[in-house]
Amino acid sequence: AQAPLTDPFARPITYLRVSVTDRCDFRCTYCMAEHMQFLPKRDLLTLEELDRLCSAFVGLGVRKLRVTGGEPLVRRNIMEFFRAMSRHLGAGLDEMTLTTNGSQLARFADELAECGVRRVNVSLDTLDKDRFSQITRWGRLPQVLEGIEAAKAAGLRVKINTVALKGFNEDELFPLIDWCAEHDHDLTFIEVMPMGEMGDAQRLDQYWALSELRDRLATRFTLTPLAERTGGPARYVRLEESGQKVGFITPLTHNFCESCNRVRVTCTGELFMCLGQEDRADLRAPLRGSAEDDALRTAIREAIARKPKGHDFDYSRRHVSGRVSRYMSHTGG
Ligand code: GTP
Ligand code: 5AD
Ligand code: SF4
Repeated sequence: AQAPLTDPFARPITYLRVSVTDRCDFRCTYCMAEHMQFLPKRDLLTLEELDRLCSAFVGLGVRKLRVTGGEPLVRRNIMEFFRAMSRHLGAGLDEMTLTTNGSQLARFADELAECGVRRVNVSLDTLDKDRFSQITRWGRLPQVLEGIEAAKAAGLRVKINTVALKGFNEDELFPLIDWCAEHDHDLTFIEVMPMGEMGDAQRLDQYWALSELRDRLATRFTLTPLAERTGGPARYVRLEESGQKVGFITPLTHNFCESCNRVRVTCTGELFMCLGQEDRADLRAPLRGSAEDDALRTAIREAIARKPKGHDFDYSRRHVSGRVSRYMSHTGG
């Protein structure tokens, strides 16, 4: 048996996020540029290679797999990958899940459930269809709402991910909360991180600290912090009056790197040891260089051995520091 993966700060690495495509059918303004240069298809790992790569991580102790993108459900034949990876559920993997924009869920929800997916995280920043088309540049809200309905109908648990944006969805805090209560969705708010080429001034303008959002929430609800974790970075509270669960992902106001348990691989086989740092390791060469996994495992261990302590994102004194230039869509968040 292989020794489990542990980084230099004694953090066990048990959560792998795999981005299966850099493409997306939306262009959320904080996540991508309007005109993105996508990777040539020949650079992509095949679904078989992605399987081998992720399976190697499972062999090294990864217990949670999250499929991301771009938009994971626009990758051709992606259900073959989910179906193949489901063999690890209960045999190494505790959970296989995905983060999606919801646009293709109506089509794939049933199959995802059949593959052992139990819950999905759906990115949704607004319930207003014009605002939705504005933030996604060309997404259609009804399509996403249908996708979410289909996921529920297929028996999947839905968590809504909302990026908190000043001047954009501030006035939707309570409508979003009420809508999630009504539909029995969990809801997690996220602080916007400085990734990609967006200018600092614009980034600061849109930044809404979740400490502030939380205070506003407390004007209408009694918030009880929950000890429960899902293996991700969110901290949860229960709203006593409605019984619903709300999460906060606060890279800026409350850094959670200390308990980091995750790394990311991209669709070309690059391993990013930290979302907020540039350092990466190439896993495609060892993957393609040998049919045995020895070199691949060695490359993974060497990379984990230099996992950084954390990100350096900071907006203090109205100045952005720690920005990374790759877009969030590169590693799927
Ligand atoms: P759960 O399993 O539901 O806890 O999911 P998760 O929060 O791990 O995953 P999800 O894809 O829903 O992530 C939501 C947001 O959290 C995304 O915007 C991610 O970029 C952000 N996030 C996830 N992991 C990290 C991390 O390690 N560091 C930072 N800074 N942000 C992260
Ligand atoms: N800051 C915070 N979250 C972001 N996401 C995309 N870009 C950013 C950013 N700059 C979120 C998406 C999705 C998740 C995968 O990452 O909204 O919920
Ligand atoms: Fe982990 Fe890096 Fe995210 Fe911090 S920013 S939680 S170290 S991946």
